[in-house]
Amino acid sequence: MQRIDEQKLLLAWYDENRRILPWREDPSPYHVWVSEIMLQQTRVEAVKGYYTRFLAALPDIRSLAEAEEDVYLKLWEGLGYYSRVRNLNKGAQQIMDQYGGQMPHTSKELQKIAGIGPYTGAAIASIAFGERIPAIDGNLLRIFARRTAYGDDIKTPQAKKAAEAFFMECFPYDRPGDYNQALMDLGAAICLPNGAPHCETCPWADLCEAHARGTETVYPAAAPQKARRIDEKTVFLIYYADMLALAKRPEKGLLAGLYEFPNADGKLSAEEAAEYVKGLGFSALQIRPLPEAKHIFTHREWHMTGYEIRADEWQQAPERKEKTDIFLASEEEMRDKYSIPSAFSYYVKEIRFRKH
Ligand code: ADE
Repeated sequence: MQRIDEQKLLLAWYDENRRILPWREDPSPYHVWVSEIMLQQTRVEAVKGYYTRFLAALPDIRSLAEAEEDVYLKLWEGLGYYSRVRNLNKGAQQIMDQYGGQMPHTSKELQKIAGIGPYTGAAIASIAFGERIPAIDGNLLRIFARRTAYGDDIKTPQAKKAAEAFFMECFPYDRPGDYNQALMDLGAAICLPNGAPHCETCPWADLCEAHARGTETVYPAAAPQKARRIDEKTVFLIYYADMLALAKRPEKGLLAGLYEFPNADGKLSAEEAAEYVKGLGFSALQIRPLPEAKHIFTHREWHMTGYEIRADEWQQAPERKEKTDIFLASEEEMRDKYSIPSAFSYYVKEIRFRKH
């Protein structure tokens, strides 16, 4: 089959099966822009109502440019990712100031507008202005991977380039916007993710390498797991006066603002541990090693070792190395008040209050 014929197959399928969506009724540049921004992180079904309401309140670029923040934020309420609507407003002002109120016509120029990246630029340029350019998103990458049995990770710049080249080879001159939307609909209805494509009704089934090999569920190839960073830590259960020492984590970063047991970077020996808790102001009376434990976060692993420490003195030294403030919690408070994140759960199980 000539590749030129595959356009016809897909467009014929689209003419029969296309979704009826409000922004497809009157695809003016402004309408397409608003819909594409809403659709960036939100499902089609959720967008429909917001789209209609937004355009009823702000029907053109000028009204969006002049809208008060409260007004456009309210129209966006519930859609999330509010920087999208702030950028819409900023972009509308840019268009009024720099483009005489008319949206630029090319994907390249559109990308100078706030909030418009390569995908959205290509979607608007093709749908509203007829530019011949594929709007590469997850759907198009998945379709490309299956059609060509592309075995590498699709989340790389090389994969995006390869997909662009593949679609450009036979991108139609007469209906580029429909072609992108046909690919979007194919990805949403037929060439589904997570190994569940409906190849039996796919207009491209006979052209698909993965389908020919019966390997459609293998593609797109799973991205290689990024190696997690490994942090060695030493965790201290320090008891003093029938209480247990806790600290609050910094307000930013991993487990922000949560409570934790005092801990140090690295794998400390018993001697080093005694020295460290001395630095926190405790005099160690007894020190007992606790078992090692591991906690796996998305991008990190904590490999922990621990010590139980019974202290007979605590002086809150003014110049401690520790950044967070240590305080003491009673057995009741540990039960009722403070929750310790599960990264430390292994050591939570080791808590033994001992009444004198
Ligand atoms: N997702 C993003 N843009 C879309 C469009 N124009 N039609 C359907 N789904 C989409």
